[in-house]
Amino acid sequence: MNLPKLPTDTVTSLDPQDWTKLRQQGHRMLDDMLDYIEHIRERPVWQPIPTQVREAFREPLPAQPMSLAQAHDKFMSTVLPYAGGNAHPGFMGWVQGGGTPVGMLAEMLAAGLNANLGGRDQMPLEVERQIGLWMRELFGFPDTSAGLFVTGSSTANFMGVLVARTQALGVGSRASGVLLSQPQLIAYAAASAHGCIASAMEMCGLGTQALRLVALNDQGQMDTDALANMIAADRRAGLRPFFVAATAGTVNIGAIDPLQEVAAIAKREGLWFHVDGALGALGMLSPEVAPKLKGIALADSIALDFHKWGQVPYDAGYFLTRRGADQIDTFASPAAYLARHTRGLAAGSPWPCDMGPDLSRSFRALKTWFTLVCHGTDQLGAVISHSCALARYMAQRIQATPQLELMAPVALNIVCYRFRSDHANEINDEIVVLLHESGIAVPSASHVDGHTVIRAALVNHRTVAADVDALLQASVSFGQALSAAHESHIKNSLKAPMNALHTPLMGLAKLMRMAFEGHNLMPLAETFKARAEKDATDANALMDLSTALQLHGLREEGLGVLSLALACSRVYELPSPKPCALRLLAIMGPGDLMANAPLAFLLEEGDISLTMFYLLPGEPIPKHLPPHDLALIAMSETRQNHDLLVQLTQAVPYWPRPVLVRPEGILRTSRENAYALLKDAPGVYASPTVQTTRQKLEAFCAGQLALQDVLPGGAFPIIIRPLDSHAGHGLEKVADLPELARYLTASAETDFFIASFIDYSGSDGLYRKYRVVLIDGVPFAGHMGVSSHWMIHYLNAGMVESAEKRAEEEAFMRDFDTGFAQRQQLGLQSVQERFGLEYLVMDCAETPDGALFVFEVDSGAVVHSMDPPDMFAYKVPAMQKIFDAFRAMLKRTAAASGAPS
Ligand SMILES: Cc1ncc(COP(=O)(O)O)c(C=O)c1O
Repeated sequence: MNLPKLPTDTVTSLDPQDWTKLRQQGHRMLDDMLDYIEHIRERPVWQPIPTQVREAFREPLPAQPMSLAQAHDKFMSTVLPYAGGNAHPGFMGWVQGGGTPVGMLAEMLAAGLNANLGGRDQMPLEVERQIGLWMRELFGFPDTSAGLFVTGSSTANFMGVLVARTQALGVGSRASGVLLSQPQLIAYAAASAHGCIASAMEMCGLGTQALRLVALNDQGQMDTDALANMIAADRRAGLRPFFVAATAGTVNIGAIDPLQEVAAIAKREGLWFHVDGALGALGMLSPEVAPKLKGIALADSIALDFHKWGQVPYDAGYFLTRRGADQIDTFASPAAYLARHTRGLAAGSPWPCDMGPDLSRSFRALKTWFTLVCHGTDQLGAVISHSCALARYMAQRIQATPQLELMAPVALNIVCYRFRSDHANEINDEIVVLLHESGIAVPSASHVDGHTVIRAALVNHRTVAADVDALLQASVSFGQALSAAHESHIKNSLKAPMNALHTPLMGLAKLMRMAFEGHNLMPLAETFKARAEKDATDANALMDLSTALQLHGLREEGLGVLSLALACSRVYELPSPKPCALRLLAIMGPGDLMANAPLAFLLEEGDISLTMFYLLPGEPIPKHLPPHDLALIAMSETRQNHDLLVQLTQAVPYWPRPVLVRPEGILRTSRENAYALLKDAPGVYASPTVQTTRQKLEAFCAGQLALQDVLPGGAFPIIIRPLDSHAGHGLEKVADLPELARYLTASAETDFFIASFIDYSGSDGLYRKYRVVLIDGVPFAGHMGVSSHWMIHYLNAGMVESAEKRAEEEAFMRDFDTGFAQRQQLGLQSVQERFGLEYLVMDCAETPDGALFVFEVDSGAVVHSMDPPDMFAYKVPAMQKIFDAFRAMLKRTAAASGAPS
């Protein structure tokens, strides 16, 4: 049989050959973006695009494919780090929303569906129609209203002018054009109106000369008397007023034009009343802002942006008209519009393409729908109210800062201010650029009454008071530096080291949390390194690099970088996330991560700012310390800190502010001193402990010394550890002399602590070690480790693996006040009395006969809330108690001394 040859299909599908691989890569991409959003605060708001990055991105048309993984890597290294930064809480430039993870995920669904929302009978259009119904409800519009998603308010305002023009001239003008129309149409908007209104007049063929800019009153709102006068004058001149645009939230200062009055004039004069609500219309969601928008319900059309205050990812502009039929008159192509089916996919007329200029349209409605339903309008309204509250807070801060000047009334969420100077315009312009380049914050420069101002638009839901504080603080620092440079005509001197000019410090708490959660810190370390290489004076980058290296286990390298950081700056700041109520100065020693109390953990989320000042050996304590209300000696008792602590004992009595955790008390916490203090303390058991040398121990091993010469009152087995060691490093139990000799041979150390080993196991053979924190003498539960081994370090006690152990720790924490603290009241009181420190961390156990067996007291031990809350939910309130008590203690002390609280 001679059958014809069948054509062979060439595979042209762009779908992957290996879906499993694509899935894995897709999950990586999703994770990367979620990581980006989750940790965005740790990045600079914006950073300049290096020339190499910009250039390397230019490539010839790619005839051959790149793998998705490679393209993604390229995105991660070249695009993501150099984006505009409007997702960042420090972004306050122009008027831009922050987006949300919910919106991002919804956008992925929309792209997967690849719906074209130009028309047809499909459920995605019902989603868009649902938003239209919600907008009708929100703005109190009638049942005739209609709405349409567009790119942004520039387009929505353009549509407002187009619809109004068609209504004024009649549908016939769509064919005849506007050139022949007589008399000439005239539009009105306040002088503060967004530039897109003028563009709309250009684009619709009426021209900007037909746009009257109405004068403003002293609140920056449209002067309605002036509007009425202008309309009357135009009528007298034989012209035809047809359109007025009022603004709900002007782009420059956030003023709201008097909507009701404008509506009344428009009604009286027969003008189309359009509201440019790009910035402010969604204020209707906020119970606080909505009353200010009274009159918006009278509009003929409204332009608004979900991508601004609505936090929907870009872009999601919206146009709403009182009568949808007006939109159809303006945009529908009658031939297409009337030829629709009533069944099948081509049903469902009218379609969005009949209501606006676009035929192909994306599914903007989906991310908006997700944002509205997943957050709820109450929460979105609360975000709006919060940004207005932040703006008022910012205005107050500016008014309380002598170097700064508030430049416009704050009606909504926009604050305009400037640094006072004889050369204010020039300097404020430059401050804005320096702020951008510093990565601290991104405001924009603008003009108010002919003056250059720094303008902060608080739109992003992530922005908190600390971001506002950081912006203002940096504005003052830069302003002062620029003024000084200006005075001496040496502008270049701004390159001088000045830590405040750099990207903020991430700090130990954030980095340690990342390490704890299993993140590889090395990519971040690379960015710190790159910053330090670019600018050798970037002390914050060096300090964070040092911390990251140490957390990665590269202690020596980390300490090397620490020296470089300290050569640049001795002062490191961690501003409080909430409005600052108190400034704490921590006096730190140079050393590894155990050298100082990690106070940042105790102050996270609070209203106390932390300034860390590093004191170096052999240097006097400077006369001018960073401003503070209260000082705290953060150094632990270590060999390296010893001399500094002694030096501080001389200085503290003359300190200008209260000093907590005094150096004398810290010096008492060395293992040997602690034993001496506690050995006869009521309720306490302390095991004989001495500091000794290799030489002495070797003589003991050689039989030249007796045990009593080396460890008076002690007996084998003994435990031995190197000086300054923690967390069980180099700690061993040795049963006899040969074992001790073997330990010494294996160790390179010269100085040790030895102590008698005490079997503190319970009747079930398990050992229980407690971490207790004493704050102003009040005990708090830190943690509890349960192990079958005598050497318990919380992380190796197997708490994660054992629900039973966690249950025991939970009970310990829950019943702490009536349980452990009550049982050990006497011992805990002894510890407090003997050390006299306002903050002390103690590792301890209970002996079989019920005494408090103290292993170690340390004012610098870490107390944190890093454990995964899903597994250790019970720790969250316990840790919060500690943090609250610590902060309350600081505030009490400050209040008692007259410092602000
Ligand atoms: C008052 C006002 N109108 C119009 C616009 C333009 O909106 P879009 O950027 O969404 O086109 C803006 C943008 O900030 C604005 O603030």
